[in-house]
Amino acid sequence: MEKIIDEKIQGQALSLNNKEGNTRKLFIESYGCQMNFSDSEIVASILAKEGFNTTQNLEDADLVLVNTCSIREKAELTVRKRLEKYNAVKRINPKMKVGVLGCMAERLKSKFLEEEKIVDLVVGPDAYKDLPNLIEEVDAGRNAVNVILSKEETYGDISPVRLQSNGVSAFVSITRGCDNMCTFCVVPFTRGRERSRDPQSILEEIDDLASKNFKEITLLGQNVDSYLWYGGGLKKDFDKASDFQKATAVNFAKLLDMVAEKHPKIRLRFTTSNPQDMTLDVIEVMAKHKNICKYIHLPIQSGSDRILKEMNRLHTRQEYFELIDNIKRLIPDCAISQDIITGFPTETEEDHQDTLSLMEYVKYEYGFMFAYSERPGTMAARKLEDDVPEATKKRRLNEIIALQRKHSSLKHEAFVGKTVEILIEKESKKSDKHWSGRNTQNIVAVFPKGDYKIGDFVMVRIDECTSATLLGEAVAYSNNY
Ligand code: 5AD
Ligand code: SF4
Repeated sequence: MEKIIDEKIQGQALSLNNKEGNTRKLFIESYGCQMNFSDSEIVASILAKEGFNTTQNLEDADLVLVNTCSIREKAELTVRKRLEKYNAVKRINPKMKVGVLGCMAERLKSKFLEEEKIVDLVVGPDAYKDLPNLIEEVDAGRNAVNVILSKEETYGDISPVRLQSNGVSAFVSITRGCDNMCTFCVVPFTRGRERSRDPQSILEEIDDLASKNFKEITLLGQNVDSYLWYGGGLKKDFDKASDFQKATAVNFAKLLDMVAEKHPKIRLRFTTSNPQDMTLDVIEVMAKHKNICKYIHLPIQSGSDRILKEMNRLHTRQEYFELIDNIKRLIPDCAISQDIITGFPTETEEDHQDTLSLMEYVKYEYGFMFAYSERPGTMAARKLEDDVPEATKKRRLNEIIALQRKHSSLKHEAFVGKTVEILIEKESKKSDKHWSGRNTQNIVAVFPKGDYKIGDFVMVRIDECTSATLLGEAVAYSNNY
């Protein structure tokens, strides 16, 4: 099954939307989470003003930027491998400069320059506006580093260049950073404190996408439910805000409501939700609007209360079940997906069984599952020994993947014989005679093209399925959009 993999990492070279008159060539590629892909669009926008057009051809590039991920060791190794490839290209094109962006840049800082001789430039996730100055330094033959994290930067004033877009779906970032401090996670260190973006600039970006005929928008943040705008400032300082700021504050439920109300012809999604931050009013807003997709990515990480506590996940198994029950009560056909880590330090066979039984209770539509990877500097790395043998981690991982596959198949089979609304996004990878798109539950459907085109909302009768995909035939346009 495609979605159930041990790594979410994907590299993607980006181009498109180039500006006339620009003479320098930028090759930019991203690894890791969607936030990195979205940040690369911001970087391309900043550099378009500095005379850079994007190219998909590494060999042609004057500047190569790689947006990196630190979430697991494997993600970092993937980037290191990629640097070897750049090295080979640099032998042919010695003028080429190489910069590292994102989480690895933030984690390793100037050490990167020592460890990887190919690297000229190291830029953390909050320092992209400094790129023009940093590139000047590099042009003058000096290495350049800026890894300063910010309490304010949201890039709200930069309109991203949509790179390699299908013209149908786009991501709009609403928060940056994370304050949750899960003990296994490097993100709070690499992406800094949680900040929310001005709702006005979010709405403007979405208005712009709507005017360009985009059909689906995903609101993006490490922890979207924690969104809170009260005129700027960190969430932790909200208590000190004035009465006026408190009265006019916008939380995630309100933001979602505002966007859904203003753009009824746009399908809305959001990711990622954290159980402890997701409130009932968010679920109520989802239930109220037809254009908000019935899908929640709701990582659990472990089904064991003891492990949840060690992970500093600030909720219990029972509280998670209550949240799931509320979601199913208010939105009966809502799909839910998970992230799970196997082999967190001290995890016993009993803890592992708790995870399996939790999965049996929820029956997720799909999931992203990982073996624990110790990350330097995290609380878990400092306080707990990585004591579950690799073979045990892998075996437990395989067990949860197998169970997830079974649940995914069950969930998909339930669609056979039903007609579902699909937004056509692209040609099927396996056949140029078929379209591929997703239903509201985020499940992929593939069907013959007929007279339909990319961007159409169509009703598709589902005839069969695999554990990853629904297969069927389009029968009509949807009346909803
Ligand atoms: N090891 C394994 N998986 C991790 N994740 C985050 N940190 C680690 C780690 N150290 C997983 C979590 C998170 C997802 C984005 O990545 O499941 O939800
Ligand atoms: Fe990492 Fe936890 Fe924040 Fe997610 S909520 S980014 S897992 S610290």
